[in-house]
Amino acid sequence: MTEAAQQTAFDQIGGAAPVAAMVNAFYDLMDTDPAYARLRAIHAQDLTPMRASLAGFITGWLGGPRDWFVQRPGVCMMSLHRAMPIDAELGRQWVEAMTRAMAQAGVEPDMAEALREVFGRMSANMATV
Ligand code: HEM
Repeated sequence: MTEAAQQTAFDQIGGAAPVAAMVNAFYDLMDTDPAYARLRAIHAQDLTPMRASLAGFITGWLGGPRDWFVQRPGVCMMSLHRAMPIDAELGRQWVEAMTRAMAQAGVEPDMAEALREVFGRMSANMATV
């Protein structure tokens, strides 16, 4: 096996620092840009736990350390969102804010585009109303 084949997407994105940077940029945008006011309104006032949780999820999901999944045995991201009042417009806001956040955090463009596509599919499938 070549060295490249052993690389995870977590390695490719650059590890923990870029993941934290994109997640923090995402919640900063959500918190400050009126374009995401509806999305912001369905989140708890204190976004600190979400910053840690989303970074932990993305880390394990990209093939990095799996602490988030170990601490939440059997939790499914789609089921977790099923109880939330998510419509197509909120899904669009989520993906747009994350796309901007990845650019701000300096995520390499091909990786950012691949993630935007997958996040877009996840978010579309999370819309329940
Ligand atoms: C369709 C657009 C989405 C909306 C409207 C949405 C909304 C929410 C809300 C309201 C919460 C609870 C926040 C709180 O308690 O303050 C949450 C939790 C969470 N969401 Fe989303 N979400 C969306 C898409 C996603 C996607 C695509 C991912 C993963 C890539 C994701 C990952 C998470 C994680 C990790 C949590 C925290 C779970 C926990 O620690 O309990 N969300 N989401």
